[in-house]
Amino acid sequence: MPLFNTTNNKMTTFLCFLLFLLMTTLSESQPDRFLRPKTLSGGSNQEYFEVNYPPNSHEPTPSCSHRIIHHAFANTINSPPYTTTYAPPPRCPAPWSRVVLHFHVRCKGEQYDRIAAIWLAGAELLRTSTAEPSPAGIFWNVRKDVTKYSSLLAKPNQDLTMMLENIVNNEFTGVYHVTVTLLFYNEYAVRVPFVPCPEELNNFDPIQSRSRSRSRSRSLVQEPGSRGVNESPADLIIPISDDGRRGFWFKLEEEKGSCSKTIRIPRNTYRAVLELYVSFHGNDEFWYSNPPNSYIKANGLETERGNGAYREVYVTIDGQVVGWEIPFPVIFTGGINPLFWEPMVAIGAFDLPSYDIDLTPFLGKVLDGKEHVFGIGVVKGISYWLLNANLHLWLDHESTVVHANPVVHHSPETSIERQEEFKGLDGAFGVDAEKETQITGWVMTSAGNITTTVSQGFSFKNSMKFQHNGSIKTVKQKFKAKKKVKVIDGKGESITRLKVRRRYPLRVVTNTKLFQDGSYRLVTDLSHTLKEKHVSGCFVKSINNEQNSKGWIDVKGHSVVSGQASTSQNYSYFDRFTCYSRNVAATNGRIVADNSTFVCEL
Ligand SMILES: *[C@@H]1O[C@H](CO)[C@@H](O)[C@H](O)[C@H]1NC(C)=O
Ligand SMILES: *[C@@H]1O[C@H](CO)[C@@H](O)[C@H](O)[C@H]1NC(C)=O
Ligand SMILES: *[C@@H]1O[C@H](CO)[C@@H](O)[C@H](O)[C@H]1NC(C)=O
Ligand SMILES: *[C@@H]1O[C@H](CO)[C@@H](O)[C@H](O)[C@H]1NC(C)=O
Repeated sequence: MPLFNTTNNKMTTFLCFLLFLLMTTLSESQPDRFLRPKTLSGGSNQEYFEVNYPPNSHEPTPSCSHRIIHHAFANTINSPPYTTTYAPPPRCPAPWSRVVLHFHVRCKGEQYDRIAAIWLAGAELLRTSTAEPSPAGIFWNVRKDVTKYSSLLAKPNQDLTMMLENIVNNEFTGVYHVTVTLLFYNEYAVRVPFVPCPEELNNFDPIQSRSRSRSRSRSLVQEPGSRGVNESPADLIIPISDDGRRGFWFKLEEEKGSCSKTIRIPRNTYRAVLELYVSFHGNDEFWYSNPPNSYIKANGLETERGNGAYREVYVTIDGQVVGWEIPFPVIFTGGINPLFWEPMVAIGAFDLPSYDIDLTPFLGKVLDGKEHVFGIGVVKGISYWLLNANLHLWLDHESTVVHANPVVHHSPETSIERQEEFKGLDGAFGVDAEKETQITGWVMTSAGNITTTVSQGFSFKNSMKFQHNGSIKTVKQKFKAKKKVKVIDGKGESITRLKVRRRYPLRVVTNTKLFQDGSYRLVTDLSHTLKEKHVSGCFVKSINNEQNSKGWIDVKGHSVVSGQASTSQNYSYFDRFTCYSRNVAATNGRIVADNSTFVCEL
């Protein structure tokens, strides 16, 4: 910076100092990733958790459990992932009514949060992030229903891979000790007798009904967390993922970066759902608070966290966009204020959501027996995103080739409007985006003509305000999405009707104060919500998950030296059979209230 050379002009020096201070203020008032304080340790061997349903204490006893990973992730940075061979346990043969992946971690010392994933034969089973340990040690358990991967879990001699890049040296001492166990259930113990709703008796997938009549008891057992009666696991899962040398996720480092895989689809596929796994890191870890590049440039800021506050993940087949998603803004345990996430972590931090994109209407493009290119990209994405997908395919076992064709295809580009107004470091920025699409296609199967219509839409709104020379930053984001999948048979009778609604508003207000020694204080107020409702026939599942956090931290470099925080979380889950709610509050790493109930509040 040439201005700094005019040292004999006191005024200029002062102004430069001021400018430097302001620039620092701004870059520091952006949400960031920190190391939790050593001194503010909870008790020894403290348990961390993500509030979820079913609660860990409520898992019934499995028919058998099978340990599949037991490994310590120490200085694993730049190393290939950990790989072992998987085979299903002989004493617990398929078919299973339910399979749960139990992920257990212990860690002690000082460590950043890390991203991790587990893949079976290249298909992802779990995307997770770690909690930051304390010198006294912490542990946590994640349980995830992985029944939908049954076709993979039933096959022997497959590579099971886990990636968790960690740094262990004199400063960062935390080694992540991971144990992964699969819990197999041959019959799920039902607490409430299953009562099929009238619709389910009359209307069902004609192809699935054949296998259902072979194992009647299975289909009549309602499992918690399952997405509906028609949702039996896919026959085949094809990974849309990288080669595995650095984990199976594609690492996207720029918007134009391409993540794609060429695959061949069995010609008797009658249903296809792409399950997308996504996480954002580096300069996009807090993409929802990135200002536009014009602002960064005009103020001569050094931050590379730009491109504005809108990201859209999209999926292509042979270059044509066939699906899209706005990811839920998961906050990792070192993010914004690490004290917020002790001992309950942010929504999704231990079990990152995956996103289902129904590609059945596009089967007409890919059932020709030829290779097709499946791609994943991020609109405005900057370094870096970790992306991959599992393509779930249901096969018509009574025929070798089914015919399919798209009928209607209404898929306009996303309409995006951006506003910006700023003067110096203060200003206001807005992004509004929306899209509505409707796609219909039919598949002629051995059980007749099945026509699938997928209608979806979303509206997204992000507004950001910088005040007091950029030291007060307010981010408000709203996201609403709806999706309908309607499947009819050749006579026009309804087979499946699925409706999904999601909302995830987020609000972050950060106030930064600089101290003379270069350290600074961040005072943050955050509220974060995930609401989801699935309706499939008369099966209803609804989740309302809300977190509010307040607190401050004093930061030197990236280390928190002191701070205070409190988080309260209200979670509720209900479906046709269960009501569950849990309200938890923690202050400075300790639970101060924790009430849960299985009573339905009407
Ligand atoms: C299947 O049904 C659709 C209407 O839903 C129709 O357009 C199509 O021609 C039918 N396909 C066959 C092979 O009959
Ligand atoms: C912002 O910075 C200017 C100098 O560039 C100063 O005059 C003003 O008081 C500052 N405003 C606030 C709210 O700190
Ligand atoms: C949870 O519910 C309590 C009592 O109804 C309320 O005081 C609190 O603000 C709620 N917290 C969140 C995160 O919604
Ligand atoms: C449940 O909440 C009440 C206040 O609403 C509180 O007094 C009580 O201690 C809580 N119970 C537990 C186990 O935290």
